[in-house]
Order: sequence, then structure tokens, then C-alpha cells
Amino acid sequence: MYSPAVSYARRNHPRFLDELKNLLRIPSISTLPEHKEDCRRAAGLLVAELTRIGMENARLIETSGHPLVYADWLKAKGKTGVPADRSSSVGWKPTVLVYGHYDVQPTDPVDEWLSPPFEPEERDGNLYARGSADDKGQVWAQIKALESLLESNQALPLNVRVLLEGEEEVGGEGIAKFVASKPPELKSDFALVSDTELFAPGLPTLCVGLRGMIYTELEVRGAKTDLHSGMYGGAAPNPFVAIAHILAKLKDENGYILIPGFYEGIIPPSPEELAAWRSLPFDEEHYRTTEVGSKELVGEAGYSVMERTWARPTLDVHGIPGGFTGAGAKTVIPAKALAKVSMRLVPGMTPAKAFALYKDYVAKIAPAGVDVEVRLIHSGDPCLIPVNNPYIQAATTALAEVWGKETVFIRSGGSIPIVGDFDRHLGIPSVMMGFGLPDDNIHAPNEKFHLKNFELGIESIIRFLEEAGR
Ligand code: BES
Ligand code: MN
Ligand code: MN
Repeated sequence: MYSPAVSYARRNHPRFLDELKNLLRIPSISTLPEHKEDCRRAAGLLVAELTRIGMENARLIETSGHPLVYADWLKAKGKTGVPADRSSSVGWKPTVLVYGHYDVQPTDPVDEWLSPPFEPEERDGNLYARGSADDKGQVWAQIKALESLLESNQALPLNVRVLLEGEEEVGGEGIAKFVASKPPELKSDFALVSDTELFAPGLPTLCVGLRGMIYTELEVRGAKTDLHSGMYGGAAPNPFVAIAHILAKLKDENGYILIPGFYEGIIPPSPEELAAWRSLPFDEEHYRTTEVGSKELVGEAGYSVMERTWARPTLDVHGIPGGFTGAGAKTVIPAKALAKVSMRLVPGMTPAKAFALYKDYVAKIAPAGVDVEVRLIHSGDPCLIPVNNPYIQAATTALAEVWGKETVFIRSGGSIPIVGDFDRHLGIPSVMMGFGLPDDNIHAPNEKFHLKNFELGIESIIRFLEEAGR
């Protein structure tokens, strides 16, 4: 189908890419306090750009943390609001809530990057930079789709609200509070979330499920101060050894989580969904060597890799800071030890229940002589998206046209906490249409965004919004 907006996007692609590089140069790492002003700068750039392309009411919305970015355009021809009977709603135009995040992950280990993380570089058809795929490249694709539609038609095909956050990578507390307050600014019919990936290169994909999570800290204290390990070793408790005992009792060798009651209530995928996953183009050996790069895959026997990462909970340890970690040797019994532990949750599980079960269990298995404290850093619910709605239909049509292939429906093992809240608080379904690739190295050194995906991502969003507003 001919679209003037798509032609506009094609003509302006080199400029779109240059502009994206400017956004990528801002080190908006949400978790590091020294980058607070950079987060604000990135948000400011987005407000300025949304204003420039003709969006209205573009502004920062302050939160307890990094600001939200908001803009809207609500002049689509036809009645707005949800009519009582959609079938007789001639001329009615829906409102889309466009979501993405401008914050990025830290860059360590920085010496493993082939080009500096905040100096975007094009190499072999990819754009390398922290945030290129997760999520600035995708946010820019959304904004450039809006620009293309506005410039080529002097109007949008439907009503649009844009809501971008700067705390997705740290749990999204600010946006969660804002959405839970159901402000009139967010009254919409569906959300477009561009923060996921294609199942394989060139394969148009809609993500219809995400895992939830709880991210925790486990602190173990022994003696009142650090001690000489020769003088006191054997009599004083060692918090690192205690933490090792605790961690070893959380998950067995087969990947089974040992917290009593943890698996209760889990809703397994339907036989139809499992059958669809089995027909996806997936080669476990290729996945093991190219994506994971370990000598074996681990996990629960009897479950495919897709089931293990999309439909089963998991528990991971991210770091055990503290004690002596310098070069050489120091004979010390540290007074305290810390472990960062997270669990991914699947439909049927809630963060509150998972955390309570975990906390009780840790208290029970704590070794003698130490005090153990468990803290919740952040959490998010799992989500499953209903697919029988006209927006998913419009997305499938647009993707098939732009990519020349049938769309596949997948879940992802990652989490985007706000997506569940869009359903719970705003009552709207999300269309998770993202353009990352499995080997984009998000959260890792040498993050990249495939340039072709930036281009086709913009075209997909244009055509999706045109179809959704038809
Ligand atoms: N975009 C990712 C989530 C994602 C990754 C979805 C891959 C689909 C495929 C998001 O930015 C992310 O990393 N989320 C965090 C959330 C957490 C910090 C609350 C995650 O999953 O660890
Ligand atoms: Mn993301
Ligand atoms: Mn991320």
C-alpha cells in the first residue's frame, strides 16, 4: 500500500540516523547518581524534538526520580473516546499511547567495547552504542514515524499520546505511580510499546508476554567488625561462607527453585501456544554457541529453551560485593557480605507473594551466628497480552506488508514493568512491536542496533498507526 509517510521516511533516513546519534551521545545511565543531569538532558532533547515535529503539550513530568516525557496530538478527524458500540462508530479514531524509555544500562566492563559506548559508530550494517537497541533507537523510530506522518499529511491517522520514561532500567517507580493515578493525560485505547526484539533477523515479531521480576539484596552480618582471620578464624562466623550456604539452597543443580510454594499457581502456556513456539525457527546449538557461548545450556529438564526463558520462573545472582577484592591477599573475616539476587516471575505469580516466600525461606535456612536481612529493590508483574483485538490485527497487517513475511507471536524472558500496569490501571492492551535482534548485546558490551531494523522499524510503526487509524 502506498504511503506518503513511508516515502518521506525513506528520503530523510540519513538525517534520522544522525539525529539518533545525538541522542546516543548522552550518557543517560539511570542507575548511576552521577548521570542524573544526563538523564534530564536526554529527556529535554526528546521534549524539544516532539515539539519540533508538531506534537502538542510536549513537556517533562517530574517524578521522585528521572522525569517522564509527555506529548500528545489529539486532533484526528472523527469522534474521540470509546463509543458504546464500536461496530457503529463511523469516523471514530482511537488513541494510542506510545511508550519507550530513554534511560540506559551502565557500560561496564568498558574495556570490552570496540568503540566507546557513547560515541556511536556504524560498522557492518549496525550502529554501535549503549542504548542503540535498548531503547533509544526504538524510541527514535517511534518519533520519526510520527514526524513522517505529520510532515507528509499535516495530520496523524489517529490520536496520539507519547509517554517516555527514564527509569525503566531501575524498575520504573516514577512511571508506575503516574500511571496508577490514572491521569486524564493517559486516556487511551491501546499502547504501542517498542522495547522488544524480533525472534530472528528479518522475521516480523509481536511480543505477547513478559516475565515479571523481584530484584533483592541479601545482607549477612557476622562479627561487629572485620577480624584477623588467623586470630578468630574457626570461632567467628564468616558472612561470605554463610551467604554461599544460603545461595546454594535457593536453586538445585537442575535449575529448580527450592523456595517452598514458589511454583504454586503458575499458569502454563496453552497447548496451542506451545505448538506455535515449536514451529519457530530455532536451533538450540546455534543459540548455545552464538548467543550464550557456554559449553552447555542449563535448566529444568523436560522444558525447551523457550519454555525455560519465557514461561518458567528463574533465580539469578548478579554479584556478591564486599570483603576483600583487591590485588594480593588480605587475611580478614569481613563483618558483612551482600548478594544481589533476582527472580523472574511468570503468569500466575505476583511479586508480593514471591518476595514473602523467599524472605521466610531465607530466614529459615540462615546459618547460626549471622543476621540475615532481605531487601526488595524493585519489582514488576508478569504480563500476557490478549491478541484478539483490532490493534494486534492492524500490527500484523502492517508488519507482514513491511517485512514480506507472516508475523510470529512470541514471549520474552525480560521484563518491562509498566506494561502490566497499562492493563491493570488504564485497562488497555499493549502492542509490543520492537525491532531489536537477539544478538544486539543489550545490557552488555558492544550493544548495537541493526540499521535495517531502524529503517524498517520506522516504516512498520508508520504503517501500523495508519492501519490502526483506518
Ligand atoms: N527492553 C528490556 C526488556 C526486554 C529485553 C524485553 C529483551 C524483551 C526482550 C528492558 O529494558 C529491560 O532490560 N528490563 C529490565 C527490567 C528490570 C530492570 C525491572 C530487565 O528485564 O531486566
Ligand atoms: Mn528496554
Ligand atoms: Mn534494558
